[in-house]
Amino acid sequence: MMNDWTEKGHSPSSADQPVQIWDAQQIEKAEHYIAEAGEILRQGGIVAFPTETVYGLGADAGNSAAVEAVFAAKGRPSDNPLIVHISQLEQLEHLVTDIQPVERRLMEHFWPGPLTLVMPVKPGAVSPYVTAGLDTVGVRMPDHPVALRLITAAGCPLAAPSANRSGRPSPTTAEHVAEDLSSRIQGIVDGGSAGVGVESTVIQVQEDGTVMILRPGGITEDQLLTVAPAVMIDPGLSGVSADTTPRAPGMKYAHYAPRGSMTIVHGEDSAAVRHYINEQLYQAEQRGERTGVLLFDEDHVDYGSALHLSLGSRSTPEVAANRLYACLRTLDAHGITFILATGCSENGVGMAVMNRLSKAAGGRIIYI
Ligand code: TXA
Ligand code: MG
Repeated sequence: MMNDWTEKGHSPSSADQPVQIWDAQQIEKAEHYIAEAGEILRQGGIVAFPTETVYGLGADAGNSAAVEAVFAAKGRPSDNPLIVHISQLEQLEHLVTDIQPVERRLMEHFWPGPLTLVMPVKPGAVSPYVTAGLDTVGVRMPDHPVALRLITAAGCPLAAPSANRSGRPSPTTAEHVAEDLSSRIQGIVDGGSAGVGVESTVIQVQEDGTVMILRPGGITEDQLLTVAPAVMIDPGLSGVSADTTPRAPGMKYAHYAPRGSMTIVHGEDSAAVRHYINEQLYQAEQRGERTGVLLFDEDHVDYGSALHLSLGSRSTPEVAANRLYACLRTLDAHGITFILATGCSENGVGMAVMNRLSKAAGGRIIYI
């Protein structure tokens, strides 16, 4: 999978030609590869790169043709805006009209890092495709040396959604990106496995300084509370009623889904949960389904013929975050059609894990 960059130029690779993967984990070669990828971005190409959360698919945020190519490669709905990635604070002044004191403090504390701030966009600062026509732009400074150096090499802020086909689990390795996008993009900078594993927390600071979480992610509610006077969670995230539309357009889509049908089983009585899962797996197999379970280590379900995947201990949601998307892809790779999962508490990064898990399950949750 790990090819050297052997071909000059950057016309989109054809379907039968594997995508270029620059192995930027090899320190001695990284600088050279980053320069090559940066040049492609400068010229309007699209390149996937590692961040500390998930891999992104980057384009010059000011180049509408490049940004359109990102939407096309992903099959992404045009009403879903992209996050703009910067490597230096000075770049922010050109992107937004106004920075509130709370926003400054949040950046000081959490940048570089998995926090995206939605702020009023300076007219003309980025392609209108980036903002999907909104008057705000989401900006973050990723905490990954390769990402930061690539942005600097490109010489411009990079608009970058997660580098998956729309609706698929986000990629946490270069191989995941190649699986989804190989014939559609100019290259992948391989920086190894992403650390956090779920995307950045997307927030918008209200006029009174309250932080509104539009998408839970790598920075937790408690961490935000150490800096902001108050933190609220977008009521639209719970999806309880039609009049609570999520403020981050991306959160209304059935995202992150494996191909099989997944259900989350919740319950206090672990023996009852175990019994229910075993029974459902048995029935599914009788129907001819290929079964899989995505469980926490405490669940002790042992159903021989199902594919068993572990999200680690319930007490370490950061491990679950790190594994979740790779597990969803493993279920697909095994052709699993019927999946049962268990959940964890929404404390800390558990909020992001449960948000993504329930989206992967299309909201199907059974309470035992
Ligand atoms: O960790 C991350 O944030 C990754 C890495 C690559 O940086 N990126 C990522 O991008 O997750 P994407 O496109 O998959 O998700 C961006 C989310 C979407 O839910 C989108 O609706 C929201 O951010 N968003 C972007 N700009 C926005 C804006 N101006 N107002 C509200 N929501 C916005
Ligand atoms: Mg995404």
